[in-house]
Amino acid sequence: MIQYEVSDGVCVLRLNCPPLNTLTYPVLDDLCEAIERAEGDSTVRAVVLIGSAKHFSAGADVGLFEKIVDRDDAVRVSRVFQEAFGRVEDCTKPIVAAVGGKVLGGALELAMACHWRVCTDDTRFAMPEVNLGINPGAGGTARLPRLVGAEASLQMLLSGRPIDARRAMKLGLVDAMATGDTLLEEAKRFALEAEGPRKTRSREDMICDAEANASAIEKARVKAAATRPEIIAPRNIVETVREGLEDSFAAGLLAEQESFAACMETTATRNKICLFFATRKTGKLEQAPAKSEAARSISKVAVIGGGSMGTGIAHAMIIGGLTTVIHDQDPAATQKAIEKIERSANKRVADGKLAQSRAEDMLGLLSSAESFDELSDADLAVEAVFEDVGVKQEVLRRIEAVCSPETVIATNTSTISLDTLAEGLNSPERLLGMHFFNPAQRMPLVEVIRRRETPSELIAGVLKFCGRIRKTPVLVDNREGFLVNRIFLPYLKEAFWLLEEGAVAEDIDAAMVEFGFPMGPLTLIDMAGLDILAATDGVLQKTFAHHGPLSPIVTQLVERGRLGQKTGGGVYDYRRGDYTSLHSEDADDVIQSVRRKSDVRPRDIDREEITRRLVLRMVAEAFRVLEEGIAQRESDIDVAMVLGTGFPDFRGGVLRYARDLGVDDVVRQLRELEQQFGERFAPREVT
Ligand code: NAI
Repeated sequence: MIQYEVSDGVCVLRLNCPPLNTLTYPVLDDLCEAIERAEGDSTVRAVVLIGSAKHFSAGADVGLFEKIVDRDDAVRVSRVFQEAFGRVEDCTKPIVAAVGGKVLGGALELAMACHWRVCTDDTRFAMPEVNLGINPGAGGTARLPRLVGAEASLQMLLSGRPIDARRAMKLGLVDAMATGDTLLEEAKRFALEAEGPRKTRSREDMICDAEANASAIEKARVKAAATRPEIIAPRNIVETVREGLEDSFAAGLLAEQESFAACMETTATRNKICLFFATRKTGKLEQAPAKSEAARSISKVAVIGGGSMGTGIAHAMIIGGLTTVIHDQDPAATQKAIEKIERSANKRVADGKLAQSRAEDMLGLLSSAESFDELSDADLAVEAVFEDVGVKQEVLRRIEAVCSPETVIATNTSTISLDTLAEGLNSPERLLGMHFFNPAQRMPLVEVIRRRETPSELIAGVLKFCGRIRKTPVLVDNREGFLVNRIFLPYLKEAFWLLEEGAVAEDIDAAMVEFGFPMGPLTLIDMAGLDILAATDGVLQKTFAHHGPLSPIVTQLVERGRLGQKTGGGVYDYRRGDYTSLHSEDADDVIQSVRRKSDVRPRDIDREEITRRLVLRMVAEAFRVLEEGIAQRESDIDVAMVLGTGFPDFRGGVLRYARDLGVDDVVRQLRELEQQFGERFAPREVT
């Protein structure tokens, strides 16, 4: 696992645990042994620790966290890593970390335990543990401030966001930057010139100003206090850093162990970790085929339809490095799509979020086509035209006519059965669904929809392909609403029932924000369009009678032209160019008139009832989806809901949340709701 090689007085220790150089206990043991050997080797003057040319290490094996059973166990995991990295730091000869790629979490903690750091010019550094709901446990909270100071370290630790090599140099996180393939040579030279060991834990230069430290801590406390109470990691990180600064390095390490264990004990962290593993599983077929050649060879993509989805999909494709051509029946729409992608890439460059060269490379992959004939060499064609059976069938037939028999044909339909769309095709087995979410270049989820006839090789290939465009695929069967809309639409509808029965719009939204959604259902539907809700519901209701009718509030708002933000108002009003939701007298008129005609007497509805009904409506539908076997695994449903709708990740997803509440309790509550509000809440047989 650790290759040992000495040349010109430098011992090169190479992490060699493919594919990711993950740090496991055996790797740590090997590393400590190798360091001991280098110390005793009289031909060695200095040591360089390196991974592969482009990738140092993926950090601690997160699988270790999953196996933690109790507090003591968590403390032990943290201590083992701290001790191993302490051993690295104690090396009696100068030790230089030569790092490339993404140096994240445990990998950065290891690099920081070395005496010096040399990186390549495209290396990125981050401490992303906070995203999993934990604090770094291998000395990171104590060493990072000693290298970059209290303020910069707290920024990195609390945001989890990466910094690039130049910023790392400026901050003092790295000592030298190599270009091209010179990393190892530069690190060796650096190691030979280094003046003896320089232990990070003994460094004081960046933390000697007590006043600056205290002010950084105070600022970070304010920031951490704004995070949800269920997620304790940010607050713990601040206090751990403080301990390491104000007391001692050793005290910081102990605080880090305790804090790590405390985080691991919370349901929120356990849920986030579970979701992390569930997300890595979604792309795997339960019954994997022998080979998945079809989509592995995708390098050129055609996107048909240059509207909002087609534009986002094409953008996602070029981000993934694929040559992409857009065709819309309206040349102006094609042009608009290209310009929108260019504008967005250029803005990211201007904001410092994207390198100019990378933007140029990406945009160089994009082109437009005036006719279908120009799409003939596509390996994958994604149809994103109007949601209309006739239009889509015609487009799919034309794709089939011009493209090779090997081309994978995907539709982005939200509601039309793939069986219907496949009807006019000569080889219908080539059609599957790739249902992207809006905005497609940013939303991480793709529902991959299979028909009964879809060959598993093709599915496996497309699931893999989604990884290339940095998306998380969830495989679903071809049933109305697929997975996300099937569960989420009933939630949106319930919000309108609550409104009709007397709840206040602002309360409905606030309740869901309090639950953990980034925005409430009514604000969301104003963004997506009430007309879209009405149209999608029209399709779903035909199959799922238990969903019940749509509240007339929706239809009447639509009739009044209040479609949402796009028309300046929906449930709320909006000022031009400003998307703040404002209470709407006009919408109130509609709501009052519907209430007057309704059989249900309006009443005050508190936030507790709002939350219970909205969340349990999703749970009830998710249990149906589970029972019908639409998804491959229960955890796929959770991943899809978190990534596709913003369901709070610290609750682990709809079904994990239900299981945390206790299935018996959930079933009891669903029965009560069923009695009061009808079949839509009826619990299903769940195991
Ligand atoms: P859109 O109306 O913005 O764009 C559709 C585009 O297709 C238009 O530019 C139109 O000119 C073009 N088009 C129509 N017929 C064509 C033909 N025969 N050949 C070439 N181009 C043609 O629609 P949007 O929102 O982009 O939706 C596209 C598809 O994506 C629909 O099936 C929709 O259900 C689905 N979808 C939409 C989502 C959304 O949030 N808007 C989310 C997920 C899926």
